[in-house]
Parts: sequence; C-alpha cells; structure tokens
Amino acid sequence: MARTHIIGTGSYAPTQVLTNQDLERLVETSDAWIRERTGIQERRQAAPDEATSDLAVNAARNALEMAGVAPGDLDLIVVGTVTADMPMPSCAALVQSKLGAKRAFAFDVSAACAGGLYALSVADQFVRSGQVKRALVVGADLLTRAVDWTDRNTCVLFGDGAGALVLGAEQDADEDAMAPRGILSTHLRTDGDLANLLCIPAGGSRTPVTADNVDANLHKLKMNGKEVFRFAVRALVESTQASLGAHGMDTTQVDHVIAHQANLRILEAVMERLEIPKEKCWLNLHKYGNTSSASLPMSLDEAQRAGRLKRGDVIAMMAIGAGMAWGSAVVRW
Ligand code: UT7
Repeated sequence: MARTHIIGTGSYAPTQVLTNQDLERLVETSDAWIRERTGIQERRQAAPDEATSDLAVNAARNALEMAGVAPGDLDLIVVGTVTADMPMPSCAALVQSKLGAKRAFAFDVSAACAGGLYALSVADQFVRSGQVKRALVVGADLLTRAVDWTDRNTCVLFGDGAGALVLGAEQDADEDAMAPRGILSTHLRTDGDLANLLCIPAGGSRTPVTADNVDANLHKLKMNGKEVFRFAVRALVESTQASLGAHGMDTTQVDHVIAHQANLRILEAVMERLEIPKEKCWLNLHKYGNTSSASLPMSLDEAQRAGRLKRGDVIAMMAIGAGMAWGSAVVRW
C-alpha cells in the first residue's frame, strides 16, 4: 500500500493583530499574566467580512501552489473546523466552490483543536486506500467569533487562522525500505465523558439559539482551563509515546515536534516528559494564540517555509481539543 506524502503546505492569518495590551482594555487582565500563564503575546482577528471558508481558501491556495497541484486535480477536501461559516452546508463545500475544485468531494470534521490532525488522519486513509490521489486537508477556525469577550479565562487565549496540507500518494523512487517516508501512521483518541470541560452549549439541537440563551451567553465558549491543562499534558505524552512505539521508535529519534499550540506551559511540560529538547518543538502561539484546528497545519507550514524540515526527518505531531479529542502522528519528511 502506498504511503501518503504531504506535498504542499500553506497557511493564512488575518491581518488584524490583537495584542495583550488591546485585551487589557476589554477585561481585567495584564500583558504580564497572559505571557506568563500562556506564552501568548498577540493573536489575529478576522475582518468582519471574513468567514472561516475565506481563511481556509487562502491557506489552501498557498498549499496548492507549493504542491504544484491545480484545484481541478483534487479528489477530496476535508476541513477540520468547529466554526464553519454556517451550520449547513459544510465549510468544505464552500471551500470546494471557491477553489473551483469541481472533482473533489468535500466534508468537515469536527474535533475542535484536534481538527487539523483528525482531518489529516481521515484524508490519509482515503489516499492510502487508493480511493483518492490528491487530497486537500484544511484546519480553519474563527474562534474570536465564539469566545465570550467578557470572560478573561478564555478570551485571551484564542485567535483566528487556517492551515492547509496537500496530500498525494507519491511513490518514492529511491525509498529506503528501512526508513520509508510519508505519513507513517496517525493515532486518534476520544473521551466523550469529558465533553463538559470545553464546549459551546447553545447553537445545536440540545439548546437551540434563542434570545434567552443568547442573553445567558450560552452560545459562547466555556472552558474548565485547569482540568483541560492537566488532561492535555497526560494525553499528549501517552499518545506520542504510543505512536512512536508502534514504529519501534522512541523520542530520541524525533527531529521535530509539530503540536497544537494551546499554552506554552502545556508544550513545555509535554516536551520535558517526553525528554525531547524543547528547541525541537515549533512554536508560534506567541504570534497567533490558540487557533484551534488551524494550529497544527499552520505550524507545519511555518517550519517547512523556514527551511527547518529536511528530507528523512522524523516529525512527531500531536493535538488535543474539546471532546476531549486528541491524537498524534508520525511522519518521515
Ligand atoms: O486547545 C485546547 C483547549 N485549551 C487549552 O488547552 C487551555 C488549557 N488551559 C490553560 O491554558 C490554562 O488553564 C489557562 C491559561 C486557561 C489558565 O491558566 P491557569 O494557570 O490554569 O490559571 P487558573 O485558571 O488557575 O487561574 C488562576 C487565577 C484565577 O484567579 P484566582 O481565582 O486565583 O483569584 C483566575 O481568575 O488567574 C485568574 N485569571 C486571570 N487573571 C488575569 C484567569 N484568566 C486571567 C486573565 N488575566 N486573563
């Protein structure tokens, strides 16, 4: 069975910057608190006329250009998002239309901050099975529209963005049988018993959007940050160890960590427990905050464009989000 290769990466962040100082004017917080407790310095906010599919399309165009793939050659589009333009149809259908990717079937994957990784895993299965040749994976979220701008526990954390990956079933002519390249595997986990730790209560079938529910702010994101933090460290460490172990690898063989960017302290704790030098973890949350589904593909794109990823390098990917949904992947570049 052919392995899936990531043949193009792209990202897009809206131009408007929202600094910690800007947030000091909105809620009782400080630049010092946000930096110390999260590592975030600023984040991006979409323009009023921008929706998630707009961010997604910009990132997708960059990835398609790098891959040298025309939209018309795509067979599949998977968008990881929890902030689609509207409840129906999917964000992916809108992306397909805007790109003019007429041949591609398209759907969304909902795994919150793990959405980029879940979407990558789903698309990988289609490519490896031979059902599709070229797939576009996008992680895109516009969480600044979902946060409660009066809640300092959450509003300082999130930003808007999109990251995109183009996948292909490339045959590696000079493949080393002992060190095959491409996506070696992805490992996904979910624990729905923890659904209440991070959720947007209203807007679905359980609690529809009504004037009363909006007055009670139930259409905005709620989070038990402390519990999410504790769970995230444990889950990311265990998942990464398991996915490396499945290939007979250990953390000494990891060249790069591409992780969902939620909190610098989470990433530092994970890197320490995995005994991977923290310089190997690509960081951009100081610039973008937590961009949810977008954060993992955006990080991969930045690392690639910075020339950090060399052929044959081992990349450990990891992400976690509401669900709780989490996972990891091992890729040889
Ligand atoms: O993408 C996956 C989903 N999200 C995450 O992974 C987030 C995981 N959690 C976190 O990153 C952290 O738990 C937070 C950054 C959300 C909070 O950091 P913490 O160190 O766990 O703080 P805390 O919740 O224990 O709050 C400590 C204090 C509280 O005050 P009291 O009760 O001790 O008086 C909070 O009210 O800090 C206060 N606080 C703030 N103070 C200033 C909370 N938010 C702020 C704020 N500015 N923005």
